Amino acid sequence: MRHAKPRKTIIAAIGGSLWEGMKQNRVQRIVERWVFPTEPGSYMGGLENRPVLEHSRGSIVTDTQGKEYLDFQSGQMGAALGHQHPRIVAAIERTLKTMMHASNALLHVPRLKLHETLGKLLPRPLEKSLFLVSGSDSIEAAIDLARKATGGLDVVGLHAGLHGSTSYLTRSISFNWTRRKHAIVAPATASILAPYCYRCPVGLKYPSCKFQCLESGMEIADANFTAQPAAFIAEPILSAGGVIVPPKGYYEAVRKACDDRGMLLIFDESQTGLGKTGKLFGFEHEDGVAPDIITISKHFGGGLPISAVCTTNKVAQAAVKEGYFATRSHATDPVLCAAGEESLKIVVEEDMPGRAARIERRIKRAWRKMAKEFELIGDIRGRGVLLGIEFVTDRIKKTPANKAVGKMFEYCLSHGLIFQTRGVRDLKNVIRLVPPMTASNAEIDRAMSIMYDALRAVTKGRRKKTPRRVKA
Ligand SMILES: Cc1ncc(COP(=O)(O)O)c(C=O)c1O
Repeated sequence: MRHAKPRKTIIAAIGGSLWEGMKQNRVQRIVERWVFPTEPGSYMGGLENRPVLEHSRGSIVTDTQGKEYLDFQSGQMGAALGHQHPRIVAAIERTLKTMMHASNALLHVPRLKLHETLGKLLPRPLEKSLFLVSGSDSIEAAIDLARKATGGLDVVGLHAGLHGSTSYLTRSISFNWTRRKHAIVAPATASILAPYCYRCPVGLKYPSCKFQCLESGMEIADANFTAQPAAFIAEPILSAGGVIVPPKGYYEAVRKACDDRGMLLIFDESQTGLGKTGKLFGFEHEDGVAPDIITISKHFGGGLPISAVCTTNKVAQAAVKEGYFATRSHATDPVLCAAGEESLKIVVEEDMPGRAARIERRIKRAWRKMAKEFELIGDIRGRGVLLGIEFVTDRIKKTPANKAVGKMFEYCLSHGLIFQTRGVRDLKNVIRLVPPMTASNAEIDRAMSIMYDALRAVTKGRRKKTPRRVKA
């Protein structure tokens, strides 16, 4: 499916009279007077100097001046089906006319249809689902579920992982953000070193390392547990941590570590779920690894906020016996459920995993070509439309090229391409690309050509020798 390109005339008809041409000094005034401040160094810092968006369609977002940008971060990853997918818009419109909100203590048709559609897609033994609103909600509910089902308490994550921003639990296990930033962290939460092979945290090499990061990590975790451990939580690909793809066999070893301790394995599929990695779920790239619980959110609602916790009948029954429940006032709103069901159908019927896999091949090919020219490109990784390019000032020492990435970001933004910069902890030397799965070849090629020009501008045309080949 290709979305039509937005034209200025359409924009004017929609809301141009209100906002078109909003002057930068007015934006500044509103931000300074009324908007809650952002930390300048954070990924949201400097909002007032960025485009003010007014319209979106497909892979394109348009600002109040009518300037178009390729949105290669898919909004906040919630538009991975493309902005304003016509089938999502139609499903929302249909449902708005019948029932917008409903009690979560009564069933309704869109909710039932969503449970059934999702249940049929889940790899067995996962089959039961409950709905919430945000990704963070689903993580809190998943951990609570693991605690109730096992009778345990402690939760282990990865030091480059991110699982949400609610003030207590999910921030506490978002180790890739500084826990110091928060007023208080939740007890019984700890991290072990992530399997970041490009910069091995224990200075070894895969596969001879035999997952020493996990071995030693779990030994430390065992020493620190305050009670029976409940769960290990991880993203199949550590997205905010710099798009880290754990090496083959790692999650199999994690599964064993969980089984040995009576812990449940939770995969946070917020970023990796529903087609984005080239398979329906990110964990399906891990042969023979069956999680006990997964969470989904982001483009699950096609742009609206709905999330889910999915688990096995056995885990669900064990937790409910102990009084477990999780909900929110808007968790099962018909309009959200209808958007959710339509997004699942789109993922399957429009072969989003297949599209994501094709986009991965095209983008990686372009970066491999650029890596022959520019030493700045240290590593190319990721799956499907969740891709990361790590920048270094030299390939032997792997010195993080934070400044160059900052300049690339500014160049690309001003030339009509949006993405986010990420990295482990304080690093911001990874360009994370998350184009919508509906992006056309022409859009991908245009983005890659902006990136190429950015690289030339940042290196001022000086192309260093490339002493080492880049794997991808
Ligand atoms: C892997 C992962 N889990 C959970 C969340 C939290 O989702 P939300 O912001 O919808 O609460 C995020 C947010 O980016 C995420 O990347």
